[in-house]
Amino acid sequence: MRVLVSGGAGFVGSHTVVQLVAEGHHVLVVDSFVNAKPSVVARIEALTGQPLDVRAFDLTDRDRTERLFAEESIDAVIHFAGFKAVGESVERPVDYYENNLGTTLSLLRAMEKHGVTTLVFSSSATVYGADAPVPMREELPTSATNPYGWTKVMQEQIFRDAAVADPALRIALLRYFNPVGAHPSGTMGEDPAGIPNNLMPFIAQVAVGRREKLGIFGGDYPTVDGTGVRDYIHVEDLAAGHIAALHRLTQADEPISVWNLGTGQGTSVLQLLRAFERACGRELPYEILPRRAGDIAESYADPTRANAELGWRATRTIDDMCVDTWRWQSQNPHGYPDA
Ligand code: UFG
Repeated sequence: MRVLVSGGAGFVGSHTVVQLVAEGHHVLVVDSFVNAKPSVVARIEALTGQPLDVRAFDLTDRDRTERLFAEESIDAVIHFAGFKAVGESVERPVDYYENNLGTTLSLLRAMEKHGVTTLVFSSSATVYGADAPVPMREELPTSATNPYGWTKVMQEQIFRDAAVADPALRIALLRYFNPVGAHPSGTMGEDPAGIPNNLMPFIAQVAVGRREKLGIFGGDYPTVDGTGVRDYIHVEDLAAGHIAALHRLTQADEPISVWNLGTGQGTSVLQLLRAFERACGRELPYEILPRRAGDIAESYADPTRANAELGWRATRTIDDMCVDTWRWQSQNPHGYPDA
C-alpha cells in the first residue's frame, strides 16, 4: 500500500514508518517539524536501508494538502500529527484546537475529494476522562479534563460524523495508553524539547545526568505504593498495532473501529523507576512532590478487543522498555542531532 503518514517524524510515527517500510509498504511522510528534528529522517533511512519520501509542511494548509493528494496516489492514511502536551494545551487552547482539528479536517477533505477511505487515527486513553473505571474498555463514555484531551474527543467525533455521511469510510480510532521505549538499535527514541512532561523521558534524563532528580507527583494515591499507576506500552508494540489495524480495516464491516492499545498491566511510578535503575545499573535520586493537577490514580487498558480482532498483543516487558530507552538515551544524551 502507499501510506501517507502524518507526523511520521515524531516518536510513535518514526517507529511505525520503519515497520511499514520493512513490510514492503510505500511510505510518504508529511511532518511540519515543529516538534521533531529533521535528523530523525537519516536515522529512519539507516534502519530501512532506503530513502524516505518526506514532505515538510503543515497539514492545516488545506490547499497544500489537497495538492499532495492530487499528485500522489494514496491508499491509506495513518494520522499521527498533532500537539500533545497537556499543560501547554491549558495555556494555548486555541493553538491546540486550531492545529489538532485543522489537520484532521484538512485530511478528511482531501480524502473525500480523492476517494481515499482508509485512515488510522492516533487517539489516546485520555478520552476516557477523569473517572473511568479500570481496566478501561472501549465502550466507556468519552470526556476530557484539558484542551488536549478535548481535541482527541472532538477528532473522534468528527470521524464518527464523517462516517455516518460516508459509510464507505474505514477509520480506526486507536486509544494509546502510555507509549515509552525506543528502537532496539538505540538510534531512534523519544526526544522531547525542553523539560520532559512525561515520566519515562524524565527518568532517562536523570539517568544520563541532564536532570538532578525525579520529582514524583503524589505519594498518597490509593495504589500499590501510593504513586500513580499507568499502562506503559513499548513503542515497537504500539507501532505494530497500527499495522495490524491497517490490515484489519481492509476487511472491516463497520466504518468506525475503536481499539485500545495497551498491555493491560498497571505499573506504578516507583516500579518504573526501579526497573530503570536495573537497566542503567545505578540508583536514581527522587523526591515525592504534591500531586499534579488533573492526574488520576490509575489508568490501564482492557486490551481484549484489540487482541481478539487485530490478532495483536503487546509482548515487550517493563524491563524491555527501560533497557531500550536507556540504550537510546545513553547513546544520544541530547537526543537527535541538530544538524
Ligand atoms: N509523573 C511523575 N513525575 C514526572 C512525570 C510524571 O511522577 O516528572 C507521574 C504522573 O503523575 C503519572 C505517571 O508519572 O502518575 C505518568 O505520567 P505521564 O505524564 O508520563 O503520563 P500521563 O499518564 O499523565 O499522560 C499520558 C500522556 C497524555 C495522555 C494520557 C492519558 O502524556 O498525553 O497519558 O492517555 F493524555
